[in-house]
Amino acid sequence: MEVVKIRIFIDSSKLDEIKKAHSAGILDGVTTNPSLIKAAVKALKDRGENVDMSGYIKEILMLAKGLPVSLEVIGTTYDEMIEDGKKIYDTFNPVAGNVYVKIPVNPSFEEDSGKNFDGIMAIKELSSMGIPINCTLVFTPEQALLAAKAGASFVSPFAGRIDDYIRSQNGIEFNKSDYFPADGYEQGEKILEDNGIVSGIDLVGQIRVIFNNYGITETKVLAASIRNPRQAREAALAGADIATLPMDVIDSLLVHYKTIEGMKKFTEDIVPEYAELLER
Ligand code: E4P
Repeated sequence: MEVVKIRIFIDSSKLDEIKKAHSAGILDGVTTNPSLIKAAVKALKDRGENVDMSGYIKEILMLAKGLPVSLEVIGTTYDEMIEDGKKIYDTFNPVAGNVYVKIPVNPSFEEDSGKNFDGIMAIKELSSMGIPINCTLVFTPEQALLAAKAGASFVSPFAGRIDDYIRSQNGIEFNKSDYFPADGYEQGEKILEDNGIVSGIDLVGQIRVIFNNYGITETKVLAASIRNPRQAREAALAGADIATLPMDVIDSLLVHYKTIEGMKKFTEDIVPEYAELLER
């Protein structure tokens, strides 16, 4: 079995955040989506800056040279997604050779839209052209399995959004960053679930098991929609190949009360002789 090495992506379209994570030397990739681009554009406009979208995306690609950057299609049919995918790849991949096209596993707005397979067919077509695909909006292991069969390079289970869904379906109030137990949320006698999935981390773990069962190694499990550092840890424990994390979660990976307390105490205890040695 392939050795799983966790990779950390930043889930952001903000240049300053990407720069910060990259300069810390821990960045392995970048994921964007239309909502993250919207937040980045708003931040630029709030600072009174003009938005040149193409130039802005090229800056992200250059910053992350050598690391995969996912850019999402906006079309919602097979034809539109093929057109968008080719346009994104042809326009932006020449910049730094690191573009992955993000395709929703199913672009429908309703259950019986008649286009449930459009995402999978677009993944198959674009990946057969050599365009690497990040399959997004994955909420079941079977969606992940079909995306892998279609040739996706990454499948992105949305861990946090499954937890949100389970809580809201059961009338539980929550804040976006609240921890959700990986083993499931107990309400009365039962563990809440969504069709056999008890948490976002359970979804990641079930995909890992199925991929291992069938020796699927070409498609990487990219745990997405991660809302807090404990969930990032649990994504690694569940066997995710990659976790994409917002900047605030990346920042808080390193924070612990006892580390801060220990720093204060060690600093207080520095004797002059030791400080002189280090010329402080
Ligand atoms: C990443 O590819 C996803 O678009 C992202 O993680 C979604 O996160 P959210 O559920 O916090 O918006």
